[in-house]
Amino acid sequence: SIPVLDFGSQTAQLIVRRLRELGVYSELLPHDTPEADVWALQPRGIVLSGGPASVYEPGAPQLPPWLLESDLPVLGICYGMQLQAHTLGGRVEGMQSREFGPAEITVVDPDLLFADMPTQQQVWMSHGDHIAALPPGFRVLAHSPGAPFAAAGDDRRRWYGIQFHPEVVHTRFGRDILRNFAFRICKCRGDWQPENFVAEAIERVRAQVGDGRVICALSGGVDSAVAALIVHHAIGDRLTCVFVDNGLLRQGEAEQVVATFREHFHIPLIAVDAADEFLEALAGVADPEQKRTIIGEKFVRIFEREARRIEGARFLAQGTLYPDVIESRAPDRQKGVTIKTHHNVGGLPADMQLTLVEPLRYLFKDEVRAAGHALGLPDEWVWRHPFPGPGLAVRVLGPVTRERLATLRAADAIFMQELRIAGLYRATQQAFAVLLPVRSVGVMGDGRTYADVVALRAVTTEDYMTADWARLPAELLARVSSRIVNEVPGVNRVVYDISSKPPATIEWE
Ligand code: XMP
Repeated sequence: SIPVLDFGSQTAQLIVRRLRELGVYSELLPHDTPEADVWALQPRGIVLSGGPASVYEPGAPQLPPWLLESDLPVLGICYGMQLQAHTLGGRVEGMQSREFGPAEITVVDPDLLFADMPTQQQVWMSHGDHIAALPPGFRVLAHSPGAPFAAAGDDRRRWYGIQFHPEVVHTRFGRDILRNFAFRICKCRGDWQPENFVAEAIERVRAQVGDGRVICALSGGVDSAVAALIVHHAIGDRLTCVFVDNGLLRQGEAEQVVATFREHFHIPLIAVDAADEFLEALAGVADPEQKRTIIGEKFVRIFEREARRIEGARFLAQGTLYPDVIESRAPDRQKGVTIKTHHNVGGLPADMQLTLVEPLRYLFKDEVRAAGHALGLPDEWVWRHPFPGPGLAVRVLGPVTRERLATLRAADAIFMQELRIAGLYRATQQAFAVLLPVRSVGVMGDGRTYADVVALRAVTTEDYMTADWARLPAELLARVSSRIVNEVPGVNRVVYDISSKPPATIEWE
């Protein structure tokens, strides 16, 4: 493996992703992780991430002393490189102004790190300090107009530093640089695959749970499904799944959960039809945050009630993913701005005293899909777009009623069906219909109508933090629009959302 020591860069987890894409296992570890925990991953090299600090700042994070003693190859990125220089006797200086954005570097040493790529290449810079003098033993590998030491290295020690960010797509050959570090310098084999992870995860669950019983809440999404399958492989029928149908799911979804888990995988499943309870609690509520709170609390209460019926259950399996794990332990990275509160099973009452089992806590979303595929989860499920916990309640804008849910469900199903037929479902990362709280005038036959408006939303995104609206073909949009207006009673107008995130969000509420 090549662990990445995290010095607080926004893009640190991308380094981990890129390494894994190369078949090299990696984890993002806090920079002060105890030495033994790093060695437990059997590292062949270490990456030092960038970070917001300046090496001279009081309290600036330092290189772990053990790393200096080890003979591991090291790649320092941005702040990581400055730390190397600072610690090993070079000089780091502040600059007049931050260098931020694209820059062109010239490679002067095309061996090892820069092997097999052009000597002129575009990179992405983002730094406020730069290296003014290299430490003894280091020589320059590349320079740019703004950075005389854009890359440097000490082949004897196998320590390398780059001032730019190889993990972002704007660095044209970033992937190749990481590949060279992993394969040429660290001598990794590159045979790690997300599927390998399944066997390991099953073992880990077995070790954690012993002969205990586990409950798992299924949502209909890919994460909880894969988590449940792994736990089932580990402990068989000592897993019971609970599926709460909150009446806010899409067409056919609840039926599919039951059919797949109970009938196809033969996993013990308690399915609760709680639609009435949820809709009653939501009656007349128009505020999105209030909807979320009500749905979150209701879910916890119902789940708790069902869980108590499962005798002797001490564990709760959850599909927590690696990005959640990383974000939750780095409070300084997000600065806790709640743009929307996201409700997961996380808010269960403490008196339930269930220990969490998180088989996916080291995986990224695309790796969970690969694991799901390996475990036999149907393709349609594996590739399902994410769906928010509060479900259609935040897509029926304004007060939620049974009738409006039915309207939205029908419109959404048409959109999804046409998107799949056009072969564009997987080319968009999230697509759905929204029922607007306005009516508009139309004509139907000889008569004037005054009816509902449906908005279609489809986005392309890598991480759901930013997103662009999908450039769907006009013919597809035309077909969806005409089918919705003709087939869904009470809708006479369809619009397409052409906002990006930011400033809009993906959901409308
Ligand atoms: P936004 O709308 O914030 O959405 O751009 C980003 C991603 O988060 C999903 N989302 C939610 N997921 N509970 C969830 O579990 C929520 O309350 C919630 N709100 C938004 C959204 O679908 C998108 O994938």
